[in-house]
Amino acid sequence: MKLSPRQTQLLRQTFLDYRQSSDFLKRPLVLHRAEGLYYWDAAGRRYFDAIGGIFVASLGHRHPRVVEAVKRQLDVMTFAPPLHGVADVTLDFVEKLASVTPGNLRFVKPFSGGSESVESAFKFVRQYFKQTGRGEKYKFIGRYHGYHGSTFGAMSASGTGKRKTKFEPLMGGFFRVLPPTSLRDRFDSWDECNRFAARMFEDVIVHEDPQTVAGVIVEPIGNTGGIITPTEEYFALLREICDRYDVMLIFDEIITGYGKTGAMFAAQTFDCMPDLICGGKGLSSGVLPLGAMIARQDMGEAFFGPAEEEIQFAHGSTFAGNPLACAAGIAVLDEIVEHDLCEKARRLGRYLFIKLEALKKYGVVREVRGRGILLGVELVRDLKTNEPFPELGRALQEVALDNGLIMRIDPSWFAVAPALIAEEADLDEMTDLIDRSLKGALEKVRACA
Ligand SMILES: Cc1ncc(COP(=O)(O)O)c(C=O)c1O
Repeated sequence: MKLSPRQTQLLRQTFLDYRQSSDFLKRPLVLHRAEGLYYWDAAGRRYFDAIGGIFVASLGHRHPRVVEAVKRQLDVMTFAPPLHGVADVTLDFVEKLASVTPGNLRFVKPFSGGSESVESAFKFVRQYFKQTGRGEKYKFIGRYHGYHGSTFGAMSASGTGKRKTKFEPLMGGFFRVLPPTSLRDRFDSWDECNRFAARMFEDVIVHEDPQTVAGVIVEPIGNTGGIITPTEEYFALLREICDRYDVMLIFDEIITGYGKTGAMFAAQTFDCMPDLICGGKGLSSGVLPLGAMIARQDMGEAFFGPAEEEIQFAHGSTFAGNPLACAAGIAVLDEIVEHDLCEKARRLGRYLFIKLEALKKYGVVREVRGRGILLGVELVRDLKTNEPFPELGRALQEVALDNGLIMRIDPSWFAVAPALIAEEADLDEMTDLIDRSLKGALEKVRACA
């Protein structure tokens, strides 16, 4: 699309997330309108949104039920002070979210996004250990390729190379292990690789001294590494290891939550009970910024007592539990539960998986992975060597956009997570666009070779 000189200038007065503006200006995308599964740019061109914005519009854009709930709340109250009051709708949201979380993960604090939820979880766990007699525990172990947010704690837990090295030194007390995908070619089987990758957490806990380790944080399905999808046994081992060393298992479900993987949370999909869940993104289907830190109720109880003991969580944020965002969150969760959208994600996921597998005909797809409708496709130059093919991904970025398709392309893999309002016919349209775009990108790359 063509930008006006004013828009071009304005793009130099701001920045895009993790993206070079000069590069973006070569093929800019200024969005103006969105509805359901589609975006329209400022020039009126339509795009199929295969990724729900960025794993956010879980029920599609401007879902009527969510928009209606926010409109109703707009007429009642738009802000409540989290320091000396709480909105009734915020408490309703706490109740609603706690009703769909696994086990006794019923202690809920709403926030305005993912980074905030992760940051809060780290602080919560450290304070929890301090006031339950284990104050030496402060270290966290995450994974390379993991992404937990842009703030200092969340970034320190992440393993995303240049996204973090530019800001080093990061916070102390954060360690990382490799995800199973980074090790898979060294093992005969994926199961064995997963066992080894899970045991690396134990090795690090032991070497760091278990008395000092507070938590392990993982995305159940890791996005930035290319929809890394460990085995169920991996999670069972993580749980066992965390129990053995009195370490909190934190699931970053900012992408994997709210139905996408075929259950409300990936914790249920993988049948593994974490101690905390961090939420964000799809929780409001993108209607308003909303995140949540969810913890075991008994952990929450450790923060409740006489005021003079000062054991309340020493944390806060002005927009936490915003009434409009909470109204949106309630509507999203109601819609998922009432229409059994988790089951729909499983059904659509099976259909979509087969369609994506069909891309193997181009000889550049190593693997399709993920769960439910959260799926990723790994691109390689050669199926014998499995060498990555970033030029193909970069060409795919351009061709997909030219074809009116928005996905997450990184560039050695791409991911899709269509909104749960999609039907098979929509997935046909989406996968036709993907097929056409991959074919076009391959032609482009081969023409340049
Ligand atoms: C897995 C994961 N965790 C945390 C975050 C941070 O969330 P936010 O950008 O809402 O702060 C993201 C954002 O992309 C994410 O994908």
